[in-house]
Amino acid sequence: MALSDFIADLDSLATDAESAFAKATASDALEAARVEFLGAKGGRLKAIQKGMGQVEKGDKPAAGQKLNAVKKAIEEAFELAKSRLAETASAAGGTDDPFDPTLPGHPLRLGRLHPITQTIERMKEIMGRLGFTAVEGPEIEDDWHNFEALNIPLSHPARDPLDNFYLTSSPAAEAASPLLLRSQTSTVQIRVMEQVLANAVAGEAAPSVRIVSLGRVYRPDTADATHYPMFHQIEGLLIDRGVTMADLKSVLRMFCQSYYHTDDRGAGVAEVPADDVQIRFRPSFFPFTEPSVEVDINWQGGWMEIGGAGMVDPNVLRAVGYDPEEVTGFAFGMGVERIAMRQHNITDIRDLYTNDARFLAQF
Ligand code: PHE
Repeated sequence: MALSDFIADLDSLATDAESAFAKATASDALEAARVEFLGAKGGRLKAIQKGMGQVEKGDKPAAGQKLNAVKKAIEEAFELAKSRLAETASAAGGTDDPFDPTLPGHPLRLGRLHPITQTIERMKEIMGRLGFTAVEGPEIEDDWHNFEALNIPLSHPARDPLDNFYLTSSPAAEAASPLLLRSQTSTVQIRVMEQVLANAVAGEAAPSVRIVSLGRVYRPDTADATHYPMFHQIEGLLIDRGVTMADLKSVLRMFCQSYYHTDDRGAGVAEVPADDVQIRFRPSFFPFTEPSVEVDINWQGGWMEIGGAGMVDPNVLRAVGYDPEEVTGFAFGMGVERIAMRQHNITDIRDLYTNDARFLAQF
C-alpha cells in the first residue's frame, strides 16, 4: 500500500470524525460517534491502523507519525465536543444531567416528641429556671416510700389493694414489705430527703432541697375520657430554713404564668400577658402536708384544678430525719396530662395513649 493512500484514508477519517462530533447534540449521540471512530474494537481508526502492515517498510515511520497525529486530533475534537455539550446543558438548566442539586428533594417526614414528653420538657425547663433540679425515682415502690413515710398509716383508705397495683399476692410477702407501682410521685420527696440527709455532714446545718420530679404513676382506674390507669405527675419539693406558704404560692404562680404565657423568646403556649394567668388555693387535706390546698388556675376564662400542694407535714420531716423546728418546706403535685390536654384542647386522655400517629402528628 502506498504511503499517500494511507495518509489520504487518515485525513478523510479525521474530517468525518470532526464533523460527526460537531453534529452531536446529545451526550449519547456523541458517545456513539466516539465508539464509531475511536472504539478499541471495530473502531474506524483501528481498522486503518491494521492497514499499516501493507505499507512499504521504508514508509512505516512516516505512516506511524501520521497515524498518531490524526488519532490525537480526533481525540481533541471529541473532548471539544464533550465540553461544548456540557456547557449547553448547564445553560439550559442542567437537563442533560440526571442529578440536579438545585431541586428541593423529596419531602422528609420528621418525627416529633409525644405531647406529654413536650409538656414534661417544658415544665422541667421552667422549674429549672426557678432553681429546681429534676430528679427521678423508681416506678416500683415499697410501702415505706409510697405510704408510711408520707404519713399515710396502714388504716388509711389510700392503701386499699383495690386502689393500688400491688405486685405481691401472697399474704406473707405483703406483710413483710409489699411492692406496688407507685400511685403518686410524692415517693420521690422521701427518697430525695433520705438521700441528702444520708450525705449530710454531722453537726452542720441540715441540707436544703429544691427538686422537681416528673414521671409515671399508676392507679387501677377504669379508662374513660379523664382517667387512665397510668398517667404523669410533676412533683415539687423545697426544704429550707424559713420556707412559708407565701413561697409556695409565688413559685406556683410563676410556674403557671411561665407555662401559659409566651415569653420574650417566643416559647409558650398562649399569647396572653403573664398577669392574665392567675392561681387560687382552696383548703384541702393530704396526709403529708399541713396545711394542704388544691391549686386551681384561671386561664381562658375558667378555673381548672391542676393539683395539690401544701407545707410538708412535720411527721414527714421527722420520718426522714429532719428536725421540723429547724427546717420547713412545701410540696406540690400536679397532673401533667390535665395541663397538656387543656393546652391542646384534647378532650379524651385515651387519645394520648392509643399511639395513632395521625393524632400525635398534630402536636
Ligand atoms: N400526691 C398528691 C396526689 O397524688 C398530690 C400532692 C403532692 C399533694 C404534694 C400535696 C403535696 O394527689
